[in-house]
Amino acid sequence: MKQKFLVFGSLLLAGSVLAGCQSNADTNRGGGSNLGGFGNAGTNGLGNGGNGGFSAGGTSGGVSGSGGPAADGGTVAAGRATSGTTALPCNVNTILKTSCQSCHGATPLSGVPMSLISWEDTQKPAVSNPAITVHDMVKMRIHDTVKPMPMTGMLPADSLATLDAWLDGGAIAGTDPSCVPMSNPYAGTKPADTENCYEVHAHAKSVAKDTTPLMVSGEHYAAFYFDAPWPDGAQGVYFETLPGMHPELIHHWLIYSEENSNNPDGTVDYPASGSHPSSPTLVAGWAPGADNNSIPNDVGVQLSGTNHKMSMEVHFFNRTTDTLPVDMGVKICTVEKHLRPNTATMSWLGTELGINIPPMAQDSTATGTCTPQFSGDIHVIRTWPHMHLLGRHMESTILRANGTREPVSPAGGWPFDFNSEVSWKTEYVLHAGDRVETVCHYTNTTNNSVGVGFENRYEMCFDFTLAYPAKALVNKNFLGGSTSLTNSSTACLN
Ligand code: HEC
Repeated sequence: MKQKFLVFGSLLLAGSVLAGCQSNADTNRGGGSNLGGFGNAGTNGLGNGGNGGFSAGGTSGGVSGSGGPAADGGTVAAGRATSGTTALPCNVNTILKTSCQSCHGATPLSGVPMSLISWEDTQKPAVSNPAITVHDMVKMRIHDTVKPMPMTGMLPADSLATLDAWLDGGAIAGTDPSCVPMSNPYAGTKPADTENCYEVHAHAKSVAKDTTPLMVSGEHYAAFYFDAPWPDGAQGVYFETLPGMHPELIHHWLIYSEENSNNPDGTVDYPASGSHPSSPTLVAGWAPGADNNSIPNDVGVQLSGTNHKMSMEVHFFNRTTDTLPVDMGVKICTVEKHLRPNTATMSWLGTELGINIPPMAQDSTATGTCTPQFSGDIHVIRTWPHMHLLGRHMESTILRANGTREPVSPAGGWPFDFNSEVSWKTEYVLHAGDRVETVCHYTNTTNNSVGVGFENRYEMCFDFTLAYPAKALVNKNFLGGSTSLTNSSTACLN
């Protein structure tokens, strides 16, 4: 997402490189199978030197983010999964969905005590204190300035007010059946047909297999180049974030297939120049709030091009004045012999045109329309909206060839919260001549107008869309040879 924004990058190109691709490390550092315990930096014990705190359902260190458990190995039982299907009031449901369910999902992440999906989930005895209910505990924790929920910081005032009104009114069930809880289908565990897993880690030295932690201060992108360790044609079936020592610094990661890169295995670009090689293909990504991606079992994600070069781009955002070490990584699991029948790729829908958000705008929009080049049926399976701080929701609509409009997103659009970027299941099929419209909605609470840019103070409007056949959504014809959406609002990129 930065490739076209060099001009905004006041970042310097410094050292170059490194690369760490540890093959087949199914035994990963930090032991986690997911992102469980983001701690509040500084208040919790993130495990033993950062490596102990994230194990899945096994022994676990300080996953709590609360300064509570010792960081050296108390046993944390798997969190309580959801049960019941009664709706919550829609406004409450939206907040839980965007701000809580990334951790308190249908199957809670490692170290998270319980699911917060259905109304029933909120009525049970609290896990840490069965004398009170979960909703009583919610009331306490959303106002707890020392260990707030969400743990990344207190909810905005309007969300807090909505939850307070509901909690103070007795936390009663909702009546609108359209707000029956939806669990995030991409919360996933490693699929049973997985044949191999590989890890890529952030590191400091531009040397293959280097494991020196990268020291991070401020807000910067980093790019780590590596040679694809899997055989030709391998499909990705599962992508897991390995949070490492300082998960709170990770604003996003993206894995690309670098089709035109010649960077040696291990190359590190930090702070990244922002000049991504010419035609990288996005393979997978994560931002706080997204789950580990388990790809549906008839689909695998195309991993590498013919030159086997890959990269992991990470947006680090260190809000402290300290320089902190990071060794985060991504586990990539594959099928290599028994391939799945469909191969998907991720495309960028949205626009970089028309993002001009006036000061104090209540609802400013930017619209992009993707006109796929492929004329056969295209199966879209996942949508992952990406905006920045002013983003509020994103609508996605199929524009059928015959002129009808079919909304893909729920009424009011996919809710969006910068601090909890969730991906959504979107099962639809495009036929020849159909297009997809993406509308991003922003609310500007500042006195400045805001345009497009890769730093958080600027805005974006992307929908990272997973679809098969591979690259079927892509259409660069509108771009006049450019590889960014900058010149057009009618393109879709790979
Ligand atoms: C980034 C992950 C994450 C997010 C997002 C998150 N939580 Fe949590 N939550 C945790 C973890 C980990 C714990 C266990 C450690 C602790 O209590 O601090 C927890 C504990 C809790 C508890 C205490 C349960 C008990 O039995 O002690 C409540 C209540 C809670 N969360 C509510 C919420 C609500 C409400 C939201 C959204 C407004 C939310 N959480 C968002 C990770 C998260």
